[in-house]
Amino acid sequence: MATATHCRRSKTRRLLVVHSVQHRRRLTAYFGLLNICGVKGGETVMVNAAAGAVGSVVGQIAKLKGCKVVGAAGSDEKVAYLKELGFDVAFNYKTVKSLEEALRQTSPDGYDCYFDNVGGEFSNTVISQMKKFGRIAICGAISTYNRTGPLPPGPDPENIIYKELHMEGFIVYRWQGEVKQQALKDLLAWVLEGKIQYREHVTEGFENMPAAFMGMLKGENLGKAIVKA
Ligand SMILES: NC(=O)c1ccc[n+]([C@@H]2O[C@H](COP(=O)([O-])OP(=O)(O)OC[C@H]3O[C@@H](n4cnc5c(N)ncnc54)[C@H](OP(=O)(O)O)[C@@H]3O)[C@@H](O)[C@H]2O)c1
Repeated sequence: MATATHCRRSKTRRLLVVHSVQHRRRLTAYFGLLNICGVKGGETVMVNAAAGAVGSVVGQIAKLKGCKVVGAAGSDEKVAYLKELGFDVAFNYKTVKSLEEALRQTSPDGYDCYFDNVGGEFSNTVISQMKKFGRIAICGAISTYNRTGPLPPGPDPENIIYKELHMEGFIVYRWQGEVKQQALKDLLAWVLEGKIQYREHVTEGFENMPAAFMGMLKGENLGKAIVKA
């Protein structure tokens, strides 16, 4: 039988795990956008899986830095949430007639920075619309994690060469020590000032973990998908 102390300890441990997951997501957004993309005010930033834990923070930091932010998400509810967060443009990539056309209409001059959470065909379409010297942070490839067939082909190399694009993959653990402490301070200040908001999508019960995972891959979560055991 669980004692009160045991329950308190395991509740504390659960909270710590949740908070460390959230920290990791925010740090991923922070370093990917600021260090890999190196965004500057006035630039146009595109992010996908934009209502997710990483994407929603990417968009909010980009707004703090004075950028125009475009987000793609997989439901109208998520699109409404992105507008609440201050994204300049948000669209439902599942219902637009053509992703290529939606991106072109949104920013006819193209994109300076692309924060990629999704990979696959989606990315090839965005990368074909980057501006000269555009920067692409390859953060995740969620569209291909669960694939059963071969990987889809990558982006057109001539586009990358002639536009002199910079494309870099990264893992958040690259940044440690002082630089990480500074990032945590910045993020904490933005959260406390209400400049960065986030949501969690909580599923109760360890036994529901497989369903929660499949739901996340289908985009059923709004905010970080968390299972409370
Ligand atoms: N590089 C790093 O250090 C690092 C660290 C943490 C996370 N990551 C990566 O960052 C990405 C985002 O993580 P997260 O924690 O923000 O995820 P999340 O909050 O769990 O959101 C995942 C979202 O991805 C979208 N998605 C799922 N399958 C998709 C598909 N086939 N095509 C397009 N979109 C799809 C869904 O949103 P829609 O409804 O909008 O489709 C889903 O809600 C993941 O790829 C993850 O692996 C990388």
